[in-house]
Amino acid sequence: MTQAPRHPAHPVDAQFTARWSPRAFADAPVTEAQMLTMLEAARWAPSSNNGQPWRFVWALRGEAAFDAIAAALVPFNRDWAPRAGALVVLASKATRIDSKGAEVPNGPHAFDSGAAWMSLALQAHLMGLVAHAMGGFDAEALAQAVALPAGHTIHATIAIGPQGDPATLPEALRARETPNGREPLNKVAHRGSFAE
Ligand SMILES: Cc1cc2nc3c(=O)[nH]c(=O)nc-3n(C[C@H](O)[C@H](O)[C@H](O)COP(=O)(O)O)c2cc1C
Repeated sequence: MTQAPRHPAHPVDAQFTARWSPRAFADAPVTEAQMLTMLEAARWAPSSNNGQPWRFVWALRGEAAFDAIAAALVPFNRDWAPRAGALVVLASKATRIDSKGAEVPNGPHAFDSGAAWMSLALQAHLMGLVAHAMGGFDAEALAQAVALPAGHTIHATIAIGPQGDPATLPEALRARETPNGREPLNKVAHRGSFAE
């Protein structure tokens, strides 16, 4: 399997650099038990006011719901993601109930959902699976496919499964099937202020 090593500039646990987003999936199932473990990891993510705004809709390959989610992906993602063992739609509720029982906007709902996605992705990695997030979908079609309730926003669809042979990918994607890099830390992290 193509997997060029990533070299962190500072010591970090290997899981942070070993996790990446392949597109080639093995023709192997993801089980309900595996799904529940990954979703459980996401459930324990931190969130503003412990509001837990994340909502997941998941389906296993072979199920009608899987096909409905896959059909709402953009053509680029439809070229590879339907070979995954599971598809997950990550949405969140944009409001929360405050201490007085009033429904108020929940500003960090998308930020919190990002934390839940990362927990799911790292749990998948720890289980020997890959989780590949996709923002490329037809939002209206996907909302319809999962019966998205009012007041909710879809952030991503996530393809999950054991990694497969890049040879199974359409030719244009094969060369891209390798871990990418990152901006240098000093471009994204500033000590004291952005002016430093
Ligand atoms: C919110 C989000 C949306 C993404 N959308 C797509 C997508 O539509 N199609 C795709 O092939 N990859 C998509 N990706 C994968 C990113 O390109 C990938 O995570 C990024 O290049 C970093 O690479 P790595 O995950 O292998 O470390 C998305 C990732 C995230 C987090």
